Amino acid sequence: MTRKLRVGVIFGGRSGEHEISLQSAKSILAALDRDKYEVTEIGIDREGQWMLSGDPMKALSDGAADEDPGRSLVKGERLGVLSVRGDSQPDAVSNLDIVFPVLHGPYGEDGTVQGLLEMAGIPYVGAGVLGSAVGMDKAAMKALLRHAGLNVSLHRLVLRSEWRSGPEAVASDVAREFDYPMFIKPANLGSSVGITKVHNAAEFQPAMDLAAKYDLRILVEQAIEDAREIECSVLGNDRPEASVCGEVFPAGEFYDYESKYLDDRSRTVVPADLPDGLHDRIKMMAVEVFTALDICGMARVDFLVRRADDKVFVLEANTIPGFTQISMYAKLWEASGLPYAGLLDRLIELGLERFRERSEMRVTR
Ligand SMILES: Nc1ncnc2c1ncn2[C@@H]1O[C@H](COP(=O)(O)OP(=O)(O)O)[C@@H](O)[C@H]1O
Ligand SMILES: [Mg+2]
Repeated sequence: MTRKLRVGVIFGGRSGEHEISLQSAKSILAALDRDKYEVTEIGIDREGQWMLSGDPMKALSDGAADEDPGRSLVKGERLGVLSVRGDSQPDAVSNLDIVFPVLHGPYGEDGTVQGLLEMAGIPYVGAGVLGSAVGMDKAAMKALLRHAGLNVSLHRLVLRSEWRSGPEAVASDVAREFDYPMFIKPANLGSSVGITKVHNAAEFQPAMDLAAKYDLRILVEQAIEDAREIECSVLGNDRPEASVCGEVFPAGEFYDYESKYLDDRSRTVVPADLPDGLHDRIKMMAVEVFTALDICGMARVDFLVRRADDKVFVLEANTIPGFTQISMYAKLWEASGLPYAGLLDRLIELGLERFRERSEMRVTR
């Protein structure tokens, strides 16, 4: 019998989406086929400490992460263990065949963990450093999408320093360029954290101040009014495929944090009720987004479709989307004929394939 593939699952993390990551990872840990995979749990607590042994999921879920500092890896202090893959040292991480980073938001979905794994020479699931970083930064992402000819909403990047040193100038520029309502967003977050829908001039300053708490880069974006929210899952490396599309009906005025995770009146419909032509066009655009942002492995691509004229706007791409069995990413594949456990197998294959391809690259003259 061939030996089982050793898969490390990293979860938790320093971002505001720590809890969501634990939920995603629990589903993945429960579904990974133990006949095929030997699974190692790797937890990161909210302070950035790595837990490589014991029961990291239990520790993080119970909030007991600090009880036994002996099994924690303090920030970067012992990251050397990551680089001894293949070494005889019996370290859990050093002997992994592939790592599945199940971390949402900054320090996980943004290319940082991916960079660490590249340095350590360990294959991993999902987008690489570039795709992860541009997928995380809404300003960089929209610039690349527009460059690729994909339709995005009118937007403007404001640096936090620019806002703090000259709020009046920023406010008057924005008032000239945009109509109300508009969205103010931290460029590098997810789960709608720090996002405000601004309806009038009075709401602008508090919205900017809020976004400035979360990021050095703030995005001002024209609201697309009366739009449907359509999502599409993409899977693959160089020849990515799109799932059927789904539709989100947020409980609130927009798909804010409450609507996403707390308000059970939010609904999703899979597959989305769209005319065939429009459905196919969105699927094609989802693949174009994936390629334009240099994503590999997986991404959920989100769209706004304006009811008045069916004009499609790319909202964003998520390189590590919510990943429970009932999350949109998995549901869309399920509806497209690929069940959850099979999806995990495929993602692991794609990660290994990407690693092999990259290993063939020449790095010297
Ligand atoms: N330009 C826009 N027009 C209309 N609704 C928007 C716009 N931008 C964001 N929204 C609403 O805000 C939600 C969160 O925005 P998004 O850019 O997807 O951030 P996040 O990465 O936090 O999910 C969207 O799902 C949508 O409901
Ligand atoms: Mg979103």
